[in-house]
Amino acid sequence: MAVAVIVLAAGQGTRMNSDLPKVLHPLGAAPLLAHALAAAVTLEPSRLVVVAGHGADLVRRAVATTHPEAEVVEQSEQLGTGHAVAAALPALAGFEGRVVVLYGDTPFIRPETLTMMTETEAEVVVLGFEAADPGRYGRLVTGPSGLERIVEFKDATPEERAITLCNSGVICADATLLAELVAGLTNANAAGEYYLTDSIAAARAGAHSVAVVTCPEAETLGINTRAELAAAEALFQARARAEALENGVTLTAPETVFFALDTWIGRDALIGPNVVFGPGVTIESGAEVRAFCHLEGCHISRGATVGPFARLRPGAELAEDVHVGNFVEIKNAILDEGVKVGHLTYLGDAHVGERTNIGAGTITCNYDGVMKHHTEIGADAFIGSDTMLVAPVTVGAGALTGSGSVITEDVPPGAVALGRAKQTNKPGLAAKLFDRLRAEKARRGEGKA
Ligand code: UD1
Ligand code: CA
Repeated sequence: MAVAVIVLAAGQGTRMNSDLPKVLHPLGAAPLLAHALAAAVTLEPSRLVVVAGHGADLVRRAVATTHPEAEVVEQSEQLGTGHAVAAALPALAGFEGRVVVLYGDTPFIRPETLTMMTETEAEVVVLGFEAADPGRYGRLVTGPSGLERIVEFKDATPEERAITLCNSGVICADATLLAELVAGLTNANAAGEYYLTDSIAAARAGAHSVAVVTCPEAETLGINTRAELAAAEALFQARARAEALENGVTLTAPETVFFALDTWIGRDALIGPNVVFGPGVTIESGAEVRAFCHLEGCHISRGATVGPFARLRPGAELAEDVHVGNFVEIKNAILDEGVKVGHLTYLGDAHVGERTNIGAGTITCNYDGVMKHHTEIGADAFIGSDTMLVAPVTVGAGALTGSGSVITEDVPPGAVALGRAKQTNKPGLAAKLFDRLRAEKARRGEGKA
């Protein structure tokens, strides 16, 4: 059956004490909201709707980058979860099937749980959990025929507050029925809000089938404060590390490696201690990332080695058997098979052909203060140590640049390019020079006394 997903993300998140909308705070180097969306897309929804409110423009922009297929609707006043769902309904016009409602600030919900809900045969399915400390959660009030209603903490009697089966907030309902139920909500309650949770009692009153699916409490964990965000980060990292190990990745010191939501690492890759992954990193099987590397937006192919102390920035593409050594920074550059960049180098906006060796201290001078320019280096070239490649510039295949050269003009294939001042030697001058310097030092010393 067709599935649509609504992600509620309009709340301000007052307790974050932030100018940034809560759902855009980062978890695993991705906005909080991206985690809920990642779970949502596993259902292959035919419509995906995000309800934004506070910072709606920022939310719209963030969603457009990670999930362009999603539609962002605006709920200008936050009058409750029922009101938020109502704001999303126009975007579901003509949709027939089941609608899943998720929260943008609840990042750990598992795809398996959502699938279990969509596969449960009832017109309305509520995701509940047994709370260790039920606190202010809504309570699931059950009777002989199952779930009867949900009561919000504020409106609950002491007996109802004693219930430990709580509402996660995730529900799944038939689209037509959901629209009817939401249209019937009122705000006659302690909070003066349109509670989505009131639709359960309404569904029962209309003799519709209602079911509860339960999940571990950890999945329903919501983020409300920076402290909770930090705790969630720790939890996310612990899971990402365990998953990587499970997938056959060697982590020498797992607790020192930090993953992003979309980090992808192949089997038998080796990740040394203190490696940080930003967004958009893919590493093929058998590659090796040594200690203290920072990687984002890059691809590392089979057999490549990176680090220690390397920084790969967005657009760094390392083909098979490339070697990138210490204190090397690579940005928006393609390194073909077997390229070696051993030490102290910056390659930006460049393409380096197969087997080329880049000497220590090489820099692509890619920025003129206004624009970026490309450096093209052919295959089997040798770039001498401390070469400045002033882009735009091309070094042909099999060419060689002399150490310390400032290359401002294209180098033809097979040529040797020397772009440095000629050296002159003055025989015997060193001793005289030292004598003069020592005399000068002594003179200054006397002056002081
Ligand atoms: C809600 C549930 C409660 C449940 C709890 C789980 C209701 C009435 N209550 O309570 O039963 O135990 O979640 O965490 O549904 N939002 C909007 N627009 C609004 C209001 C909320 O987008 O007008 C979004 C928020 O940004 C948030 C989510 O909906 O992501 C939940 O809203 P929140 O106010 O946190 O609900 P709770 O009071 O925690
Ligand atoms: Ca909440």
